[in-house]
Amino acid sequence: MPQPKIRPAVSSIEEQQILSVAKLALGNPDVIPLWYGESDVVTHADIRRPAIDALERGETFYSHKTGTPELRQVLADYMAGLYDISLDMERVSVTASGMAGIQMAMQAVLEPGDNAIIVAPLWPNAESTVRVMGAERRFCMLDFSDAQGWALDLEKMAGMIDSNTRMIFVNSPNNPTGWVMPSEQQAALLELARERGIWIVADEVYGRMVYDGRAAPSFLEHARPDDPLFVVNSFSKAWAMTGWRIGWVTHPEFLPGSEMSFTDLFGNLIEFAYSCVPQFLQRGAEAAIRDGEPMVADMIEHCRRGRDITAQRLPNIPRVEGFRTPDAAFYAFFRIAGTEGRTLAYAQDLVRHAKVGIAPGTAFGPSGEGWFRLCFAQSPELLSEAYDRIERGLRDIP
Ligand SMILES: Cc1ncc(COP(=O)(O)O)c(C=O)c1O
Repeated sequence: MPQPKIRPAVSSIEEQQILSVAKLALGNPDVIPLWYGESDVVTHADIRRPAIDALERGETFYSHKTGTPELRQVLADYMAGLYDISLDMERVSVTASGMAGIQMAMQAVLEPGDNAIIVAPLWPNAESTVRVMGAERRFCMLDFSDAQGWALDLEKMAGMIDSNTRMIFVNSPNNPTGWVMPSEQQAALLELARERGIWIVADEVYGRMVYDGRAAPSFLEHARPDDPLFVVNSFSKAWAMTGWRIGWVTHPEFLPGSEMSFTDLFGNLIEFAYSCVPQFLQRGAEAAIRDGEPMVADMIEHCRRGRDITAQRLPNIPRVEGFRTPDAAFYAFFRIAGTEGRTLAYAQDLVRHAKVGIAPGTAFGPSGEGWFRLCFAQSPELLSEAYDRIERGLRDIP
């Protein structure tokens, strides 16, 4: 009898390694979870209220596929102000999370036989999506030195491009390393993409999570309206809205070199996936952008406290190496001596025996052996206790 089939591109994807750790104790109050990229802050009442009011008003119907005109306008104005650029709202589409934005961008561009160059280490979901599309991943690893930290070698990246390269995926500020792509490199990479006819997907979901200044450099500061560029953003991190599943993508209005509306094409992909982002959520998101600057400032202060505690404690724990205080995002990425070749198992042992959950570096691409990531966007008390547990764990678990 013929058996029902699943695409090998899908069935070959292994369990995500952060989940392989988290599932040992998800929801278990005895374990301190630092494995996911999420703060312990609840979304502010001034964002929740407009969403609740919208529901009460009966905003329970299908809505615009690329977002309400109100939210798209607010987002376009916000980014224009943030980066000192002009931006038409036609170039902004609201998506059901940053992740959904990444997925739509990849659906628009990649097919089997294509390859995508991925700057890594990187949060795993983006490269998995390249695989779902049946395309090939090519990792362009950031270089690390204890003295200089993390850096991207653009020449190395240019050497990886061939005639099947359709996309370069770059996440800055970076999860997990905290690397921030310098503005000059963004300009140079954009120029390269123009010359070679390759799309850039710039994942800027941590763009506001910086400890100096208002925002990290953005590709938008260099982009022309018709550049082959997607800039992915999210409400999840800076506005503490992970569970809302809402983000936005800035893209060209027209298909580069043609009169075809790219906004319509992108809207079609949204429609075929989930039709639209629920309207009541968009009302909350509107408030987040309009009134949320003090909330973003509070979130950064919360993370700064976590980062200070991390910088005091983590490098002083015996066996911890390679930690550098990040300039952005809310992760510590570091090595634990003696764990190469069993990184995932070691993270699992820390959950079982030390009651603390951190993510294995092997989840973030090749060269992650011996590395680990933790999220420090937590309250000082919780973090201090977590570092006590990590210290004991590293002493007791060989
Ligand atoms: C680098 C990066 N990009 C995108 C996302 C997606 O964010 P969301 O789907 O919650 O908007 C995350 C979430 O952890 C992330 O770390």
